[in-house]
Amino acid sequence: MSDDLEALRTETAAALAAAPDLRAWDAVRVGVLGKSGRLTALLKDLGRAPAEERRARGAALNVLKDALAAAIEARRAELEAAALAARLAAERLDVSLPPRPEAAVAGHPGLVHPISRTMDEMAAIFGAMGFAVAEGPDVESDWFNFGALNIPAHHPARADHDTFYVPPIAGGPPRVLRTHTSPVQARVMLGQPPPIRIIAPGRTYRADHDATHSPMFHQCEGLVIDRDITLGHLKGCLIDFLRAFFGVPNLPVRFRASYFPFTEPSMEVDIGWDRRSGEIGGGADWLEILGSGMVHPRVLANCGIDPREWQGFAFGMGVERVTMLKHGIPDLRPFYDSDIRWLRQYGFVGGAPASLHEGFGG
Ligand code: PHE
Repeated sequence: MSDDLEALRTETAAALAAAPDLRAWDAVRVGVLGKSGRLTALLKDLGRAPAEERRARGAALNVLKDALAAAIEARRAELEAAALAARLAAERLDVSLPPRPEAAVAGHPGLVHPISRTMDEMAAIFGAMGFAVAEGPDVESDWFNFGALNIPAHHPARADHDTFYVPPIAGGPPRVLRTHTSPVQARVMLGQPPPIRIIAPGRTYRADHDATHSPMFHQCEGLVIDRDITLGHLKGCLIDFLRAFFGVPNLPVRFRASYFPFTEPSMEVDIGWDRRSGEIGGGADWLEILGSGMVHPRVLANCGIDPREWQGFAFGMGVERVTMLKHGIPDLRPFYDSDIRWLRQYGFVGGAPASLHEGFGG
């Protein structure tokens, strides 16, 4: 190799070794391989070499170019690894350190998120009526989310749900992110013999995003199965719950005929409010709060319960919606922003579990 090429090789190697960081490394790279880099210039000059030398010099230049590119690349990998190691060392967090008391916000240890608060209140109010709390998975099988609930494939009701589909586990059933808490109904019925009296608060998912819809939100399901359950029980139970939850003893409640594939008859439930002031229980306007109905005999049969012997009612409501109404929270989006200012505004002082007395408004 001619002297100038050898010099370029050793000088580049030295410059790379001396480059302390990626910035310096990049300067070396551009100085050699860039548009006006040293190697680029040598390649351009090739045309001016005497014809008999051109071939050999061209081959040597190509070999050198590959070697330089490889050396430059190797140094980049080295520097990146070093940068990562330095960052990991600098950002190391010792999670075993005791908390610093001065870091607590304004002297209190934290607040309960309004969603958690509402679900606690629901558990307290329904708990006093003899309901237990049940749970199911967020990643649900298509059958529990739809099929068991009398929503077969291609049923038009599926189109309302904006479902997130999840790839099945090899050989497993089709899966979704549950679009409602109703699959917990089926899980409970398959898991225990009646009588049943449960609520199921939890996360639900729909591919929907605007000021009033979030792709992740919360619902609270309810299910009662016994021998002689009637529509009267459904109405009494929900009227009591709504009056307790909103703390308005004479809250007007309206049951409106509706349709759900898993209940028959089905009813939407409205409460009275004043649209303009937002006052719950005042005014002449109605606001839809939840869906409900008598459990469809086919759902009972799907879940191994004999519909000639047992019957019951079910309901489901949006947790965000009733939380916003109860506390006058105007926007849904900040619920999930973890903005400490919003949490301080709307959070609840912890340690005092929601009691039935609070639910009934004292
Ligand atoms: N699952 C229904 C929904 O998400 C609500 C509902 C639950 C209706 C139970 C009736 C009975 O809209």
